[in-house]
Amino acid sequence: GFDIGKLRAQTGLVTLDSGFGNTAACESAITYLDGERGILRYRGYPIEQLAEHGTFLETAYLLINGELPTVDELAGFRDEITQHTLLHEDVKRFYDGFPRDAHPMAMLSSVVSALSTFYQDSHNPFDERQRHISTIRLLAKLPTIAAYAFKKAAGHPVVYPRNDLGYVENFLRMTFSVPAEEYALDPVVVNALDKLLILHADHEQNCSASTVRMVGSSQANLFVSISAGINALWGPLHGGANAAVLEMLESIQAQGGDVDSFITKVKNKEQGVRLMGFGHRVYKSFDPRAKIIKTAAHDVLSALGKSDELLDIALRLEERALSDDYFVSRNLYPNVDFYTGLIYRAMGFPTSMFTVLFALGRLPGWIAQWHEMINDPSTRIGRPRQIYTGVAERPYLPVEQR
Ligand code: ACO
Repeated sequence: GFDIGKLRAQTGLVTLDSGFGNTAACESAITYLDGERGILRYRGYPIEQLAEHGTFLETAYLLINGELPTVDELAGFRDEITQHTLLHEDVKRFYDGFPRDAHPMAMLSSVVSALSTFYQDSHNPFDERQRHISTIRLLAKLPTIAAYAFKKAAGHPVVYPRNDLGYVENFLRMTFSVPAEEYALDPVVVNALDKLLILHADHEQNCSASTVRMVGSSQANLFVSISAGINALWGPLHGGANAAVLEMLESIQAQGGDVDSFITKVKNKEQGVRLMGFGHRVYKSFDPRAKIIKTAAHDVLSALGKSDELLDIALRLEERALSDDYFVSRNLYPNVDFYTGLIYRAMGFPTSMFTVLFALGRLPGWIAQWHEMINDPSTRIGRPRQIYTGVAERPYLPVEQR
C-alpha cells in the first residue's frame, strides 16, 4: 500500500503542525475521545459508568491489561501492589536534602527518577517480568512518594503505609495522620478522591502521555519515562491548571468577587490572562469529566459541611463565560481542572498538592501507553522534523575579526 513515510523520505515533504494539532504519532487501543460530542471511554467503557460504579484500582488494571479484572485478578493485583508500597529507607534521605519549600511536583519527579537507581533490576523494557515489576512498584510507591512530599512541606514525620488499607485510604492516612492524631478516614472523602483519580486516569495523547511515549521511545526505562511525564504535567497549561484555577479564584475573591471585570480582562487578553480551567485542545463541546466533577464538588462540599465562597465565584464565572460570545465562539468550556481544586481544598490539600493528585490519577494511563508503545512493533524513536528558518551558510570568522 501507500506509505506516507516513504513518500516523505523520497520527496522531502514535511508537515508543519505546531502542537501536533492534526498529527497522530501512534495508534492506540486504550482511550477513545470524541471532542465534538464530549465522549470519553477507557477500553470502550464510558467514563461516566467507570466513575459511577468502578474503583481506581480496577480502572488502572483495565487501562494496563485491556480488560476489567475478575474478583481473583483484582485481589491479586491489589495484594501485589500492597506488598510494594514501602520506600527504601535511603529514599527518605532525598527528602532531607530538598529545601522545605520545594514544590511537591519537583520532589515527585525527582524521587520517581531516583527509583531507577534503586531498581536496576527492571530497566529492560523488553523483559516482560521487568516490565511487570516496575509497573507494580510505580503504582504502589507513587502515593507514598506523594505523601512524603506533603510531609516534607508540613515539617511532619513521615507516616508508613498500612497493608490493611485500600489504595486511596492509605494515601490519605499517610498524608494527613500526625503522631498526635490518627487521620479519621471519611468514606465521602475516600470515594470522592477515588472517583477523581478514575476521571484523571488516561486521556490519550495529552502532553504528559506523549512525553512518556517520547522518552520511552528511546528505550529508556519506565521510571525515568514516567518522571518525564510528571514534569510535563506540572505546567499550568496542563495538570498545573488545577492549582492555577484556585489561585485565580482566590485573586478574584481578594478583589471583592468581581467576576465581570475578570472576564473583561480575559477577553482583552490583558497580560495574557486566561480563564484557567477553561478550554481544551480536543473537547470542542464539553468535557464529560467536568460535568461529573461539578456534581461531585457540590456533593463533597455539602457532605463535609463546608460552604466555599470560591465555589460560588466559580459557578458565577462559568455562567458568565458560557453566555459570552468570546468563549462560545472559541468553544471554550470548563475542563477537568475547573472544579477539582475546590474539592481537593475541602479535603484539606494545599494548592501545591493539586497537581500531585492529578499525577496519582494519571499514572495508570502513562504506564498503559508505555506498555502499548513497547509492544507495538511499528514503534520508532520519536524524532519530529523541523522547518529550518535560520541563516544560510556563512564562513567562520576568528574572534578578533567579528
Ligand atoms: N481563556 C481565555 N481564552 C482562551 C482560553 C482560556 N482558558 N483557552 C483558549 N483561549 C483562546 C485563545 O486565546 C485563542 O484565542 P484567539 O483565537 O483569539 O487567539 C483561542 O481560544 C484558541 O486557543 P489556543 O491556545 O490556540 O488553544 P489550544 O488548543 O492550543 O490550548 C489549552 C488549549 C492550553 C487547554 C487552553 O485552552 C488553555 O490555556 N486553557 C487554560 C489552561 C487550562 O485550563 N489547562 C488545562 C487543560 S486540561 C488538562 O490538561 C487536564
